Amino acid sequence: MISKKMTDALNLQMNREFFNARLYLSMAAYFESLNLPGAAQWMTAQAQEETGHAMRLHHHLRERGARIVLAALEAPPTQWDSPLAAFEAAYEHECKVSRQFDEHMALAQSEKDYASTIFLQWFVSEQVEEEASTDEIVQKIKMIGDHKGGLFMLDRALGERKADD
Ligand code: FEO
Repeated sequence: MISKKMTDALNLQMNREFFNARLYLSMAAYFESLNLPGAAQWMTAQAQEETGHAMRLHHHLRERGARIVLAALEAPPTQWDSPLAAFEAAYEHECKVSRQFDEHMALAQSEKDYASTIFLQWFVSEQVEEEASTDEIVQKIKMIGDHKGGLFMLDRALGERKADD
């Protein structure tokens, strides 16, 4: 039986992951407006992945017999100062999400909820990848600087990302 505290924490995180999907869809729209379709595709794939994260939490809660609670979601930002600023925001956001999962893991362990501990391990590993992939793009954009050709090449590479990457 899953505790009320753990149920609330995982419901909260499920709703956050739905917000994350909307944040990245908003970033995709921003990149479309800059005529950077590759970055827009990368963000769309990221949004699909975030919906997948929310559904993993949904599935776990259902399997544990917990009540699912869908909350109102705040609107994500719609504008960033530059492609670099958008990817920096994505990186910082992922660092925040990593801390959220660390807190859920700590709660699961303190509650001796081993099913949630094992379930959350996947997310802890996933967050290492999420931070690394966004940081890698930040570093590349910094290297490119004001070189338009470099940004075009990067955009083409980002466009190769599929939803499951
Ligand atoms: Fe599901 Fe990128 O956090």
